Amino acid sequence: MSQTPLTKVVIPAAGLGTRFLPATKALPKEMLPIVDTPTLQYIVEEAVAAGLKDLILIQGRGKSAIEDHFDVAFELETTLAARNKTKDVEALRRISSMVSVLSVRQKVPLGLGHAVLCAKSAVGNEPFGVMLGDDMVDGEDPCILQLWRVFQKHQKGVIALMEVPAEETSMYGIAAGDMLDERTMNITRIVEKPKKDAPSRMAVIGRYVLPPSIFEHLEKTERGVGGEIQLTDALARLMATEGLIGYRFTGTRYDAGDKLGYLKANIAYALKRPELRDGLMAFMGELTGAKK
Ligand code: UTP
Repeated sequence: MSQTPLTKVVIPAAGLGTRFLPATKALPKEMLPIVDTPTLQYIVEEAVAAGLKDLILIQGRGKSAIEDHFDVAFELETTLAARNKTKDVEALRRISSMVSVLSVRQKVPLGLGHAVLCAKSAVGNEPFGVMLGDDMVDGEDPCILQLWRVFQKHQKGVIALMEVPAEETSMYGIAAGDMLDERTMNITRIVEKPKKDAPSRMAVIGRYVLPPSIFEHLEKTERGVGGEIQLTDALARLMATEGLIGYRFTGTRYDAGDKLGYLKANIAYALKRPELRDGLMAFMGELTGAKK
């Protein structure tokens, strides 16, 4: 397997976002703001912090808002400059200069596995990252970079794992296996959303570093849970042929594709802003006080 640096990352953002309707009727859920910044931008910032240069964005119907967001906004910049809003102009330029974005269209949202398969020719024959467009990981050490280091050591696909309560295992892909050290698991079983008898409480979250051979497995993967082509099913095939590693990453993960996760992310990120913190804390105190 090659030892070239990780440069490419696939960001699937072509789902229908039905849990956020009607907000997502015309706007992709990946563009919903966490405080004042679209979810997707946090993910792109993690990729940039990890040194990734080529972003392959999987987009579906009505996703031009995403392309516009990462493009130069000439009229807006000119207007802001005329009003001497230099800081705002710089912030906008920073977004458009962050990375090169290649858009790939997933014509029908057949599932996450299918979305990743759409990137096959853009990725080529090298290991690549996958970062879900609605999954945020807050932390000093970019989660995708943590996985890349593990990939380099083991020369096998690596997926991010997080321990979840037993009652939540049916909401995730669940992995089980032998711990190689405190954080690293040699995966021997992986199942998508187990209805009962989950093999562990280690849930798969939206960060992966995969070898290009995953595409062959995806091509052979039939529709699974929910009638979708599941990435987890292709990962099970990869595990059986080449092996698969799980890594309990450091950082805090927010599922911004879920209403509660989205609200938690908004509160957590707002509390990090000095200009919002005191006002928000006081308001939450009022709310919880009023409940008693
Ligand atoms: P989700 O399952 O959270 O997205 O997929 P969804 O299907 O849009 O969600 P709901 O249940 O209808 O609300 C995780 C990520 O994979 C992308 C989504 O955009 C999201 O970022 N995805 C999912 C695709 O790109 N294509 C698909 O066919 C499915």
